[in-house]
Amino acid sequence: MSLCDDVRSAAREILTHQEVTLISHIDADGIAGESILAQALSRAGIHHTSVFVRQLEPMTMRQVPEDKTFKLFCDLGAGQQNLLAERGLREEEVLIVDHHVSQPCEREYPQVNCLPHGFSKMSAAGVAYLVAMEMDPGNVDLSRLAVVGNVGDMMAREDCGLVGPAREIALQGAGAGCIEVISRDLNCYGTSTRPLHVCLAYNDDPFIPGITNNVNGALRFLQKLGIDLQTPEKRWLVWEEIPPVDKRLVTSSLVQQIISCGERADRLFSESYLFPGEAARTPLRNAQEFATLLNACGRWTRPRVGGAICRGDRGPAYREAEHMLTNHRAVIRDLLEYILNTGVRELSHIQFIHVGSRYPDTIVGIGAGMALSRLNMEKPILVMVEQPEDPALTKVSMRTTERVVGRGIDLQQALTTASAEVGGAGGGHRIAAGAFIPKESEEHFVNRVNQLISEQRCAEGQGHR
Ligand code: C5P
Repeated sequence: MSLCDDVRSAAREILTHQEVTLISHIDADGIAGESILAQALSRAGIHHTSVFVRQLEPMTMRQVPEDKTFKLFCDLGAGQQNLLAERGLREEEVLIVDHHVSQPCEREYPQVNCLPHGFSKMSAAGVAYLVAMEMDPGNVDLSRLAVVGNVGDMMAREDCGLVGPAREIALQGAGAGCIEVISRDLNCYGTSTRPLHVCLAYNDDPFIPGITNNVNGALRFLQKLGIDLQTPEKRWLVWEEIPPVDKRLVTSSLVQQIISCGERADRLFSESYLFPGEAARTPLRNAQEFATLLNACGRWTRPRVGGAICRGDRGPAYREAEHMLTNHRAVIRDLLEYILNTGVRELSHIQFIHVGSRYPDTIVGIGAGMALSRLNMEKPILVMVEQPEDPALTKVSMRTTERVVGRGIDLQQALTTASAEVGGAGGGHRIAAGAFIPKESEEHFVNRVNQLISEQRCAEGQGHR
């Protein structure tokens, strides 16, 4: 069976039901995926309700209603089929739309998952879109949400743009006039909303000495080029507003700067995905910033606000999301400073920190990823945080870089193995993974993860550093 076959049978199955419960994840991919499936269901006249969960675990399984509705899991489920079996769900009342690694289970639930078909660079929203298009080709407008999910789940990072079926979706959306695909754009976050010098300074991939993490340095660099950085009214311009000739001057000067530091300049450029129908200088303008807006909603337990935005609300829901985004950024900045000021503890192959109960478990992974560029980028970072609603449980988030993943490091494998050994559960991706573990096993767990990462390095023939 190919992915196309799985998509076809998934669409056929969904269309036979009258009542569906959608269970999705609270991150950008989960929210975008839920919105795609919910809109496809509405358009097909199928009644549905949605449940969002932080992770599928015994506690959150209680949110899944025990009723006769068809259960459609999105962006989760593949790795937690044992929980579905424990609940007594039968194969014929479940469909999983996912992109995470499947864990073995005595029951094999019907699944449409890009991963076993070799497509590791596609998100659950991407898979959901393929199913929605199979249900009705008129759903092509939902390609925008698929691209938000794909970009939000970092599927575009390693290759500086989407690849494979995820890129096909973006091109399909471009063909339908919903998406503008820009090749060789500046590979920076915030090109639609941040003043250019801030945008450059906040970017750490590629790391540019004198500019990365240095707002004044970035401003001086741009001022020397003699281009307009502000409007006549003294408002700072964002990258999107810079004229093409000035954009070329900026990128060629950045290339020179990077090369003079002995680095490769190829990661300075990436393909970007804009939504021309959205208001200028808003986070809705491009896939990356749209995804952050959804993450802000989800990680602050308001995924339905994100869902409303995905369904087109540009009024109350959007205003609420803007507030959450401001708060999201402020707390992440605070977390970043906390990690840097407190300092991480280094083991031979990883670095780690416990942030106590200071921050919500839903954002520590994001803060960890951002802190990494200011720490030793060679060692994956592991952050532990208390679970306020269950003090016996610790949430773990791990992040690393593309460069380290390229050397054979797989955080998903390390966290899944180490957490299972202590009676917890983990999952995710090579570059970003998470787990829940019993609090009392923290010390043993950290050492075990270090050992597993060291074994991965050895297996790659790199040896210890
Ligand atoms: O929570 P965090 O942002 O660190 O999660 C990183 C990745 O790991 C996400 O893709 C998330 O779905 C996955 N994860 C998982 N199982 C967990 C925790 C996180 O699959 N218990």
